[in-house]
Amino acid sequence: MSEEALTGTGEAAAARPPQAAPGAARVAANVYDGTGLPVLGFRNYWYPVLAAWRLRRRPKAVKLLGEDVVLFRDQGKVFALKDQCAHRGARLSRGKCLYPGTGTLTCPYHGWTYAGETGRCVAKLMEGPATPIPPEARVRSYPVREHLGVLWLFVGDMDAVPLEDDLPDCLVDTGAWHAIPTWRTYRCNWRVLNDNLCYDLHAPFVHRNSPELVLQPIFPFASRVTTTPLEDGKGLGYTARDGITSADYPGLGPFPPPGEAFWRRMKPKGRGKEMDTERATAVTRYGIKYRHMSRLPAVTLVGRPSGDYFMVRWVTPIDDETTLFYSFNAYRRGGPLRTLLDRIGWTAWQSWTHDWIFSDQDKMLVESVRSDAEQLSRSDVGVVAWRRFMVENARRPADAPAAPRQAADRAAE
Ligand code: FES
Ligand SMILES: [Fe+2]
Repeated sequence: MSEEALTGTGEAAAARPPQAAPGAARVAANVYDGTGLPVLGFRNYWYPVLAAWRLRRRPKAVKLLGEDVVLFRDQGKVFALKDQCAHRGARLSRGKCLYPGTGTLTCPYHGWTYAGETGRCVAKLMEGPATPIPPEARVRSYPVREHLGVLWLFVGDMDAVPLEDDLPDCLVDTGAWHAIPTWRTYRCNWRVLNDNLCYDLHAPFVHRNSPELVLQPIFPFASRVTTTPLEDGKGLGYTARDGITSADYPGLGPFPPPGEAFWRRMKPKGRGKEMDTERATAVTRYGIKYRHMSRLPAVTLVGRPSGDYFMVRWVTPIDDETTLFYSFNAYRRGGPLRTLLDRIGWTAWQSWTHDWIFSDQDKMLVESVRSDAEQLSRSDVGVVAWRRFMVENARRPADAPAAPRQAADRAAE
């Protein structure tokens, strides 16, 4: 995909969104129907599903991409199986590790006992040791990994790729970075939350009075947004130029209106500043080109021009109307004292100002969104580009059909 195809600047770009032209109302059963974005999320990727400390002696039920999974831990090792006994369907998550050290989980109903590694039934406890066990007496087993204090699951139609293939660098290199993970559950489809995390110019409006930004500059609006594929082909970088921090609207008055909480007047720096693509430390020292990026499967990174911090937001689809929002605060390591200060800073300030209050401003909105109609506009350049990129570039098994074409592409033929 060429950069030009994903570049949305000014009026010309606004005319290019593939789903609908600006000003044209679009009514459908669901606005995502024509996008090719699957309702339950992209399979064949790793997703964070549970804080590792929450899985102890008892098995735990989780849901990912609509699939019920039981996680259990035996002598430190974690296993993941389909949470439905092959016998008569009882929930394995109500069962127990009756034989510690064997890596097995026993169903609470009649004692079918499954190997965590393969999902094969190795014993039917109520039928005696000599009972035959056919090969089909098994449940699906899932690849699972523990990393950064989080359990990651791979639900797919192909062999799992290494977890590191799906992680941004700042979550791979634990020698150079440390991360603090948090999570929230959202009552919305993953696609609504995913759209919220693109560069869609909601931030200068929705978060204008967020306490976290009291010491930050005003986020600019009316920017010209450009999207460019990342070098590794796994996502898009956003660049915003020419934003303004105030304007006059004929017949209305100034924006922000007097009395509105646009009281921040700091010089542009920190999170509110667009990165200088030539002089920022992130660029010159670390080769980071974008402050704001989206990556497959549904991951957003927002960094600092210093290149020493990224907020990584991982959107994990649970079912068609529930989504897990996993957030990693990733800090570049600068010695033990610096790591301690990062953690103190997060606990004392960012944990509640950002991960709680700031994010709740989004949560309230995305949970109120109805997806039966939309009218894409100039501020949605990033949304349109990211939706399209995901559909065209999502990982598929080698024998899977090609990416579905988008409705607007078909209409154009
Ligand atoms: S339902 Fe699980 S052993 Fe019978
Ligand atoms: Fe937001």
